Amino acid sequence: MNTSHLPHSALVLVVDDEVRNVKLLETLLHADGHATISASNGKEALVSAVANKPDLILLDIMMPDMDGFETVARLKADPRTQPVPVIMVTALDDRESKLRALQAGAEEFLSKPVQSSELRVRVRNLLRLKEYSDFLTDHNQILEEQVSERTAQLKEAYRDTMFTLVRAAERKDAESGQHVRRISHYCRALTAAMHVPIELQDTICDASPMHDIGKIGIPDHVLLKPGSLTPEEWAIMKTHCALGASILSSGTSPYTRMGAEIALNHHERWDGSGYPSGRKGEDIPWAARVMQICDVYDALRSRRPYKPPLDHARAVAIIQQGDGRTHPGHFDPKVLACFSTQAERFAEIYESHANV
Ligand code: C2E
Ligand code: SIN
Ligand code: SIN
Ligand code: SIN
Ligand code: FE
Ligand code: FE
Repeated sequence: MNTSHLPHSALVLVVDDEVRNVKLLETLLHADGHATISASNGKEALVSAVANKPDLILLDIMMPDMDGFETVARLKADPRTQPVPVIMVTALDDRESKLRALQAGAEEFLSKPVQSSELRVRVRNLLRLKEYSDFLTDHNQILEEQVSERTAQLKEAYRDTMFTLVRAAERKDAESGQHVRRISHYCRALTAAMHVPIELQDTICDASPMHDIGKIGIPDHVLLKPGSLTPEEWAIMKTHCALGASILSSGTSPYTRMGAEIALNHHERWDGSGYPSGRKGEDIPWAARVMQICDVYDALRSRRPYKPPLDHARAVAIIQQGDGRTHPGHFDPKVLACFSTQAERFAEIYESHANV
């Protein structure tokens, strides 16, 4: 920002209860090329300062009702007017009242009668100061915008890395990471509908895509088998939970910690019939109970080596009424109820992030 053009054509608010004084100051300021507005008392000055955003305020001390000390104190207490420099114009030439004005927040003084050369110097200095402080404010705002843009880029880079790793783990090259993106969106839909705090929503959205990362350790002949698994193969398959938790347990961020908890527990069931530990009810971590229903819905909708894709109505029916393999008692009743209210949203997410 170029500061050299200042202090030309600033807007100055002149506050004095005597019209004659206002006129005098305005004449001097106009001669130096500034525009002016005026107020005849403190209350009017406060309103005008907010409405007109002057670059500088010239403020009389002795005024009826609200004097200059109180006016400047209020101007400095309001974040909207706090940055505007204030010059107190005073007939009181004693140190006491100058100190009081400084304590109340005024930047400068002028003694009456005001000398034009003195006024010019003070005005120019304070306008430079104001310009510089505006520059810093703008600069900070730009920096904040850059930081949040970088943060968004980092988050996107995180997701990219995560989705790439999970695709490698699941050997689902055809899916281009859509399955794990959908899981994140389902978790958002459920936790938002449950009015979970936003930070917890964000954490589960970032953590949930990692739930099956342990499949990286499952041999192809098991993971990609077109038909049902033998008991031995099933035993191998079930190790993906502990394996995933152990991969993620070295992480220290909230989402890797929650990711480890989800990986370990996402096949536990509310009625205790799940694996690897047979945990029951609220012994199963909350995030895993949310994630589980999302995983089952998405697996039902998707083609797997061992099953064809099912339509939305069929998937919802299996979750709500059960089939030979799934039973409503597997799910946390509160999460299941929430799923039922959000079922249409699940369909939208599946369809808008379908595999290509
Ligand atoms: P996945 O394919 O991601 O499935 C996740 C979960 O969705 C399953 O957990 C199950 O609860 C549910 N699910 C998936 N397909 C169906 C289905 O056709 N009907 C019903 N009712 N529910 C379904 P589960 O059973 O613990 O399986 C964990 C993982 O083990 C599966 O992840 C998959 O990778 C593998 N798997 C399970 N069954 C078979 C199978 O018969 N053949 C092969 N090759 N892999 C299987
Ligand atoms: C995310 O964390 O942005 C994915 C979940 C969503 O916002 O739907
Ligand atoms: C969603 O909000 O869950 C879907 C929109 C998107 O792709 O982020
Ligand atoms: C919630 O706020 O509903 C989740 C609390 C939890 O982590 O169990
Ligand atoms: Fe799994
Ligand atoms: Fe999965």
